[in-house]
Amino acid sequence: MAEKLDVLLKEKRVFKPSKNFVEQTNVKEWMNKHGIKTYDDLLEKSQDTEWFWEEMSKIFLEFYSPYKKVMEWKPPYVKWFTGAKYNIVHDALDKHAKGKNKSKLAYIWEGEPGDVEKYTYEELYHEVNRLANGLKSIGIKKGDHVGIYLPMIPALPIAMLACAKIGAIHAVVFSGFSAHALHERMVDCSAKAVITCDGFYRRGKTVPLKKQTDEAVANTPKIKNTIVFKRTGETVPWNAGKDLWWHELLEKQDDECETEKMDANDTIFVLYTSGTTGAPKGVLHSHAGYALGISATMSWVFDIKDDDVWWCAADVGWITGHSYIVYAPLMLGTTSVMYEGAPDTPKPDRWWEIIEKYKVSILYTSPTSIRMFMSFGEDWVEKHNLSSLRLLGSVGEPINPEAWIWYYKHIGNKKCQIMDTWWQTETGHHCITPLPITDLKPGSGTKPFPGVSADVFDDSGKPVKNAGGSLVLLKPWPGMLRGLYKAPERFQETYWKKYPKRYLTGDMARLDEDGYFWVQGRADDVLSIAGHRIGNSEVESALVSHPKVAEAAVIGRPSEIKGESIVAFVRLMKGVEESDDLKKELFNHVGEEIGKIARPEEIWFVKDLPKTRSGKIMRRVIKSKALGKEVGDTSTLANPEAVDEIKTIV
Ligand code: WT7
Repeated sequence: MAEKLDVLLKEKRVFKPSKNFVEQTNVKEWMNKHGIKTYDDLLEKSQDTEWFWEEMSKIFLEFYSPYKKVMEWKPPYVKWFTGAKYNIVHDALDKHAKGKNKSKLAYIWEGEPGDVEKYTYEELYHEVNRLANGLKSIGIKKGDHVGIYLPMIPALPIAMLACAKIGAIHAVVFSGFSAHALHERMVDCSAKAVITCDGFYRRGKTVPLKKQTDEAVANTPKIKNTIVFKRTGETVPWNAGKDLWWHELLEKQDDECETEKMDANDTIFVLYTSGTTGAPKGVLHSHAGYALGISATMSWVFDIKDDDVWWCAADVGWITGHSYIVYAPLMLGTTSVMYEGAPDTPKPDRWWEIIEKYKVSILYTSPTSIRMFMSFGEDWVEKHNLSSLRLLGSVGEPINPEAWIWYYKHIGNKKCQIMDTWWQTETGHHCITPLPITDLKPGSGTKPFPGVSADVFDDSGKPVKNAGGSLVLLKPWPGMLRGLYKAPERFQETYWKKYPKRYLTGDMARLDEDGYFWVQGRADDVLSIAGHRIGNSEVESALVSHPKVAEAAVIGRPSEIKGESIVAFVRLMKGVEESDDLKKELFNHVGEEIGKIARPEEIWFVKDLPKTRSGKIMRRVIKSKALGKEVGDTSTLANPEAVDEIKTIV
């Protein structure tokens, strides 16, 4: 409690990096070389976008053939390094395997049961080549889509890199998602093959991923093969002629495979993310721009040095893992730690044990995880020597100052700056983020990354200072999404309609007197559960797909640990009796339809839901009533009496 007060009183504190630390950073070294004296100068000079990113590309990218133009902007589409031939796998793997990083560790992986595997750059390169050849042998070609449904095991980055190597487009689906979610995504992108495993370990049990995959691909005629990596050795159902064991497929393959020379703007992957309405959106990223954005941000924000041991403790199934577990660390020749299991298995100090054991020097995680560790108590942390840590990161949602301070004090021992990085699946890499030279204010993502330009607009498109508004990005950046798969209108509508030629992030934010950004959360109806976006509409449609449910409205209730937890209001079909068993059934049903992460914490049965005259369920009204806030004007409702049905639940 005392600590809480302390935090509130000192919220305005500024945390300055030490002079010695600043002097040794990658960004400072670059500034010195370019005669740039201050952070403000850096931000200003880098607004010459093409100059800045071209300079960055000289450090981080090796093209097969030169480009004609650094950037081509035809709103809302951007191209980077037009005319060049490029493949991210060259920078992530090929050049290291043949160069000085050959024998350096790329991954140190630990399974939940405690088994360990290590891959040098050369070993990783050979594994990737063998799988790439294996994929070719079953007819996967440049431009084909391949689904990847794998947990946090080395096979996951290997599968992604093998696809990218031959120019196939990977569509990774988070292994915590259900068979139904996998099915929907595989159909949307017309995948030709899926890569999965028999099962994996989570909280001491195994999750039968192959079984789930079978369910998902039972009615997807386009999928010709399922490649199965053996992780647990459990017995799995088998479809002869369709299923292939990973190890059998790779047995016969050569460990050299030529990397496909792609057009710099060819798609590298599609990754699905939740939107306000409808099905998940297939966000598209392309080789060179994405590669530049992720490597430059990782090098400057996390100040990666040759001897760092990096741990981004996210799941590769989300964009954080794509960018900062797979592609960027490899591009920089970094050693990464990867862990399969739950943070509290076997005990709540598993993470701290891992940091101590491998001398992790930089940890990147989410506010949700930090709050979870806070709830376990400091004793678990204090048992371990975390002195190897020199820098910390946060991502996924706004970090509350209380969690910030806890992270700073108990994990960073008051000597590590915290990089609170704001970005999205769509942006590909950090966009608003401190650099290690930035003065920090807990809870603020501080300023745009150099070369990125952001502002806060009111509804009419005028910039607003010190008041809430829409967070917008004013110019294209290298990792900017290239569109939504098969949905150009939705792309236009979602991001470019409100303010023409400006990118609408969908977040609300405030810009303070020092030019610091304070992201307040989503403006649209998207839930933020443990730092991940889940559309309210997705959970609602999962509920309504149950035969006993007529209608459903779902809201997010602020949760101490998860950011938000899901509360559902459900109107049942006529004649269906309300019961606790039915609540349980609906809870499980949502788990099966989307995944455990989307299961409502509470379900309330109601006789009616407040609607507009056109029949749209008024989530905002429901949310206000449920959370005990001012409901406001209900005169536009077709059935204002339905508001009384909604219980105030706080
Ligand atoms: C949304 C993007 C970026 C990888 C993880 C989530 C929220 C993300 C921050 C932050 C405040 C943040 C925003 C954003 N968000 N990082 N540091 N401070 N909010 O990726 O699923 O695409 O979600 O997460 O609301 O729009 P995503």
